[in-house]
Amino acid sequence: MRIDVITIFPEYLAPLHVSLVGKAVARGVLDVHVHDLRRWTHDRHATVDDTPYGGGPGMVMKTGPWGEALDEVIADGYETGARLPRLVVPTPSGRPFTQEHAAELSAQPWLIFIPARYEGIDRRVVDEYATRLPVHEISIGDYVLAGGEAPVLVIVEAVARLLPGVLGNAESHRDDSFAPGPMASLLEGPVYTKPPEWRGRTVPDVLLSGHHGKIARWRRDEALRRTAAHRPDLIERCDPAAFDRKDRELLAALGWRPGPGGHYVKNEKGEDGAA
Ligand code: ADE
Repeated sequence: MRIDVITIFPEYLAPLHVSLVGKAVARGVLDVHVHDLRRWTHDRHATVDDTPYGGGPGMVMKTGPWGEALDEVIADGYETGARLPRLVVPTPSGRPFTQEHAAELSAQPWLIFIPARYEGIDRRVVDEYATRLPVHEISIGDYVLAGGEAPVLVIVEAVARLLPGVLGNAESHRDDSFAPGPMASLLEGPVYTKPPEWRGRTVPDVLLSGHHGKIARWRRDEALRRTAAHRPDLIERCDPAAFDRKDRELLAALGWRPGPGGHYVKNEKGEDGAA
């Protein structure tokens, strides 16, 4: 997969050469190109921003440098044989980033990221390239960062670990929180490694039992408990048909019951049938 990032802070992307993503780059699974947007400015101050039309605080990134940068990066990619790129625009007003989204992006041959600073990029840039390329405007969460570079690191890491040959153990993302399959939409439970005792704290006996069925059941219970505690919205969205008898018993013990539409809802005080 080819990845281009156009930014006014190329040094911010240095972590793309570290750890898992760095190894994917070193092995040639990922071909990463980081570009300084200021290369495509033509004034003495290498200006990339200007005051917003309509007034208001902050500055807006100008169309000119982005247009020239994107034209050149896209032409260069096509010359080297890359196929239709997707344009990824990190923005707090984008679609929330999910594991499903990461999987979709991981199937693409080429991603071009345009992280913004200031109040964002003049809208005409995205509108212009949306006529030629699929565009993904992505938010990594309901908070506002100072720029899109950290979201690029987040998105690239989530995508890269799904590429074939990047994780050592091909099974490693099977049990991920949010992974598709029987554990769909449940958070992963706790994990342990040696030693069996640390500061008087022991590892749950079942994990040392060697009994695969019991271990799988324990993991499922822990996943359900953690999801119910941290992300009740995920339990509510779960297909109730995905719950087996043991799941239903545990959910009942945790105060959940099937609601009118079949999906599970949490028993709230005063909501359990009292007239
Ligand atoms: N830029 C600033 N905040 C952001 C967020 N939450 N997600 C994506 N890009 C951003």
